[in-house]
Amino acid sequence: MSNPQSHKPHDRLAAVLSTDMKAVNTMIRERMASKHAPRIPEVTAHLVGAGGKRLRPMLTLAAATLCGYTGPFHIHLAATVEFIHTATLLHDDVVDESKQRRGRPTANLLWDNQSSVLVGDYLFARSFQLMTEPGSMRVMQILSNAAATIAEGEVLQLTAAQNLSTDENTYLQVVRGKTAALFSAATEVGGVIADADEAIVKALYDYGDALGIAFQIVDDLLDYQGDTGTTGKNIGDDFRERKLTLPVIKAVALADETEHAFWKRTIEKGKQEDGDLEHALELLHKHGTLVSTQADAKAWAGRAKTALAPLPAHDIKDMLIDLADYVVSRLS
Ligand code: IPE
Ligand code: IPE
Ligand code: MG
Ligand code: MG
Repeated sequence: MSNPQSHKPHDRLAAVLSTDMKAVNTMIRERMASKHAPRIPEVTAHLVGAGGKRLRPMLTLAAATLCGYTGPFHIHLAATVEFIHTATLLHDDVVDESKQRRGRPTANLLWDNQSSVLVGDYLFARSFQLMTEPGSMRVMQILSNAAATIAEGEVLQLTAAQNLSTDENTYLQVVRGKTAALFSAATEVGGVIADADEAIVKALYDYGDALGIAFQIVDDLLDYQGDTGTTGKNIGDDFRERKLTLPVIKAVALADETEHAFWKRTIEKGKQEDGDLEHALELLHKHGTLVSTQADAKAWAGRAKTALAPLPAHDIKDMLIDLADYVVSRLS
């Protein structure tokens, strides 16, 4: 999976952390199994076998290593974080009625919604078992809080969807919850398990928070201007799901009367016709909101980099800085 020759910070991190990442992958494979319900390994093997970038467990390993941790438990925490992530993806694809994930048909399409929801629950439960193993109350607080915050973000998004008055503040709250909470927990627990100073733990938290926000803003842009071959997901899902992501929120704010009627019909009333996605894209281009959204993502990546200032000089610190730039460069 790692490629030491690559210039991508994500691959460089994977190369530096490759021994630990192997241990994480082994632990993931062991713990995603089930002796009693064959549907569980079928579904988990399908999703986990497809890979995924493993960004969040890498952040935990990076944070722990950067803080000089030498014990064994960063592996458990990295696996916990990836389990929480995988559980949310199983549930998310049901809620979003998505058909493609990690370049493969989604579990809800291949099996059914019931299997996705229940195997997602199983992975959540497995993540809770794993997070207890280091025996740190603080670590359990951080990770269990993150799981609750992700669910809140997803539910807030549910009620904000189809509502044209959703503003940028609500969007930020959604994104911070559903995505950034796990990034910040991933980096924070790496510092905590290493017993790092509070200022360092806070810096790691702030980095994860800002990186996660940048990451989700870019993911939302890719939903309009990405390429299925690269993202492994369908394009236009958010429009079809009538989700108010940042490029649309900005375009609605700048809409004239006719445009407002278009957004009202497609997003609020959900009466979508052939050609609507293309017209939506025209409006995003017309008002420059893909560009201004990208600028917002860049600003969050900038905040992520600034947050790292208190950390000591380290190869991995440089890679985390580059990773913030890379997350935004996925667009170009
Ligand atoms: C997908 O996350 C869910 C979002 C928060 C946008 P990733 O893009 O990290 O998914 P994988 O794990 O690499 O498939
Ligand atoms: C991803 O959200 C799921 C969580 C962050 C919980 P999205 O629905 O925006 O992401 P994709 O596009 O399906 O990966
Ligand atoms: Mg989704
Ligand atoms: Mg979703």
